[in-house]
Amino acid sequence: MKKLVYALFSASVLLGCTGTAVSAGNNSGSNIPGYDAYSKSLETSPVTPEEFALLQKTIFFGPEDVKALRQAQKILKPQITEILDTWYGYVGANPHLLYYFSNKESGEANGEYLSRVRDRFEQWILDLTDANYDQQWLNYQHEIAKRHHSVGKNRTDNVNSVDHIDYRYMVAFIYPITTTIKPFLQNGNASQKEVDAMYEAWRKAVILSVILWTHPYIKDGDF
Ligand code: HEM
Repeated sequence: MKKLVYALFSASVLLGCTGTAVSAGNNSGSNIPGYDAYSKSLETSPVTPEEFALLQKTIFFGPEDVKALRQAQKILKPQITEILDTWYGYVGANPHLLYYFSNKESGEANGEYLSRVRDRFEQWILDLTDANYDQQWLNYQHEIAKRHHSVGKNRTDNVNSVDHIDYRYMVAFIYPITTTIKPFLQNGNASQKEVDAMYEAWRKAVILSVILWTHPYIKDGDF
């Protein structure tokens, strides 16, 4: 059984590598199935712009970080396939994480689901490093939040997977998603000081995102 799951997983990685081509820049993700960052019919984020501004202030996220992220995008974009290979390799090597991409009944990893999420994940990297952090961005973070939670998981890809990603892993994922990016940032021509600034900015942007993504998990009034 384990072998079969890994075989399916490898197939999905392969599919992901040859799947939808993604280019950077604004609105470039609009052709990716289910990637709704630019949709005007998104629910308004329950996090107000004022609350979001204070969150940014709390973690010292400012214009210098936005600038560093733009620089990071140029370095990360040509390596996007390798970055996704790293992250999917990590998920595939951990059955307790691969579980969240599995069929609810059979327990087998759903290769098509993995592949479709991978395409959106690629675009997310390009958009996170190019975001204006405005109301539209905030609204899409709430949509991504719902897609990880039982209120919205599986809907986008119309899959029969497990209903919910457990909260503890949402927070835990901050570590692999941040620490693994550093070697990729070092592959550009940036100075060590610039690499450190890009890494810090990436870390803050991921932390901000995950805070917003955990909103549906927190009971009313406690966020
Ligand atoms: C730092 C934390 C995380 C990041 C940055 C991240 C990133 C992403 C992104 C960018 C997407 C696509 C969003 C879209 O639809 O546009 C996504 C979807 C998804 N992620 Fe995560 N994720 C995180 C935590 C997790 C964890 C812990 C798991 C469990 C292994 C997971 C499993 C999934 C699944 C199954 C989907 C598809 C959900 C659906 O629409 O049905 N993610 N994630």
